[in-house]
Amino acid sequence: MNMLTIAVSKGRIYDDALPLLEEAGIVPIDDPKKSRKLILRTTRDDVNLVIIRATDVPTFVEYGAADIGIAGKDVLLEHGAESLYEPLDLGIAKCRMMTATPVGAPEIKGRIRVATKYVKIAQQYFSGIGVQAEIIKLYGAMELAPLVGLADCIVDVVDTGNTLKANGLEPKELIANISSRLVVNKASMKIKHQVIQGLLDQFKKTLAKRD
Ligand code: ATP
Ligand code: PRP
Repeated sequence: MNMLTIAVSKGRIYDDALPLLEEAGIVPIDDPKKSRKLILRTTRDDVNLVIIRATDVPTFVEYGAADIGIAGKDVLLEHGAESLYEPLDLGIAKCRMMTATPVGAPEIKGRIRVATKYVKIAQQYFSGIGVQAEIIKLYGAMELAPLVGLADCIVDVVDTGNTLKANGLEPKELIANISSRLVVNKASMKIKHQVIQGLLDQFKKTLAKRD
């Protein structure tokens, strides 16, 4: 039997991916919210889930530690996803990658300081529009940076805009629309083609019903 390992992150991607997996007959036997297990067996004997940090999903799939992964486009853009197949937009965990600044802040002329956990995305964006930017890497609470004088601007994902608003910031420029994608290890796609293609077809069917 060809075993298939699917990498998923806990939290919103897991919650949104669960119904999709269910439709493909993949139901985890343990609930990751209750169990400390990181490898979950499922109701399909040939499929295991591994529960990892969102940012680690492309790494696991790239190295073949997982055959398939579900990851946000933000994470894929930041990781550089040339080494992975990205055959399907799952349309879940939708948000927007945006710049944001304090409400009413004057436009900055010249070099700006940008706080973000998306260093590569921010670098590419600002160099693409010809703005000199000093990128300051943070691992969370980016919204705080402009409030304490650490940065002029942040680059982060925005959904409702509530987090920005609660911190006196406003969204400015759209960098990219984000949703979660199915990614596949290149070797697995060849070696386990039949089972992976079957899964892709099932996901496509479920997504088509949603439109
Ligand atoms: P970690 O908790 O491991 O640091 P994380 O906080 O990025 O990672 P999640 O918050 O679960 O993990 O986000 C996973 C993915 O969901 C992100 O990569 C992004 O694609 C998407 N996402 C993030 N925030 C939102 C949001 N507010 N609304 C919708 N989708 C979001
Ligand atoms: C994400 C992101 C923003 C917020 C945006 O945080 O980092 O802070 O969502 O969503 P909103 O526009 O609807 O307010 P998340 O809720 O994932 O918290 P975390 O990054 O601390 O895990």
